[in-house]
Amino acid sequence: MTKEKILVIGASGQIGVELTIALRKIYGNSQVVASDLREENDLLKGTGPYVSLDVMNKEMLHVQVIRQNITQIYLLAAILSATGEKSPGLAWHLNMQGLLNVLDIAREEKLNKVYWPSSIAVFGPTSPKKDCPQQTIIEPITVYGISKYAGEFWCNYFNHRYAVDIRSIRYPGLISYKSSPGGGTTDYAVEIYHEALECQHYKCFLKEDTYLPMMYMPDAIRATIELMEAPADRISIRTSYNVAAISFSPSEIAAEIKKHIPSFDVEYRPDYRQAIADSWPQSINDSIAQRDWGWKPEFNLSKMTADMFQNLK
Ligand code: NAD
Ligand code: SER
Repeated sequence: MTKEKILVIGASGQIGVELTIALRKIYGNSQVVASDLREENDLLKGTGPYVSLDVMNKEMLHVQVIRQNITQIYLLAAILSATGEKSPGLAWHLNMQGLLNVLDIAREEKLNKVYWPSSIAVFGPTSPKKDCPQQTIIEPITVYGISKYAGEFWCNYFNHRYAVDIRSIRYPGLISYKSSPGGGTTDYAVEIYHEALECQHYKCFLKEDTYLPMMYMPDAIRATIELMEAPADRISIRTSYNVAAISFSPSEIAAEIKKHIPSFDVEYRPDYRQAIADSWPQSINDSIAQRDWGWKPEFNLSKMTADMFQNLK
């Protein structure tokens, strides 16, 4: 069996930092090359190799893949939902061309595996609001959601046409304490913990009763690794898997935070992100991920909140 050598693209981002650290624990520090357009995240410094890399520069990416003997790529570079609505052309360009560059190189260099995340943002206002199934009406209204849905079909195409072993998860909103979120609609659920600790007050950009599917980062990292380690014949979905963990509203997370900080209060000032949140489902059905590769979340709202405060303090 060949020793895996992994390239993580977008390693300095919210998911990239924690995923790189987790992959280094499994495969060895020198076997996981972190890369990003921006500088190396402080938490990654001294833990393994880092290269400065623009996923849009296909030639440079190809050279790195050959030079470093890369066998797997995790592609995390993207523009998320809220930032994407400010620069739709840029979001489409990065989210699509970045993926196509990676898929092309994976095919040419016969890489063992590729990981690329999709999002609950593929769903739109016509999708079922509750327990949203894997296959349903999918009519996204954000450029981010459109790029993720198109990306899913490119992944499926490269798998069926060229046998590229690409795997994907439709992450819900991710909550973490190690690295900051990068411009999504679900970022409020991270900011709220920081503001609760700093000033016991939070100005929330979503309405108090806006339910969204969410997941704590340790669950998201474990889901990613479990999917990537599953035998190929267990993977029935080559677009992207629904996965679920928690669904809550701003008022519910605020109530949970108040159990730790009784003086905490929230002011609701919805902005343009409300319309994005309103277009997404409130909860997700992940029965196919459960069946195919045994997905099961560990963290609920109270366990996540206790862990967030323990680490942030
Ligand atoms: P992030 O914005 O925190 O990180 C993305 C990283 O990509 C950044 O460090 C950025 O510098 C880097 N990057 C941007 N352009 C680049 C380029 N041209 N070349 C190389 N690197 C570049 O995002 P994240 O939250 O870590 O998300 C990672 C992936 O997971 C994205 O595909 C995102 O759509 C998906 N996702 C995230 C969430 C979430 O809640 N965080 C939910 C669903 C899906
Ligand atoms: N957390 C992401 C966002 O809000 C969902 O993909 O954009």
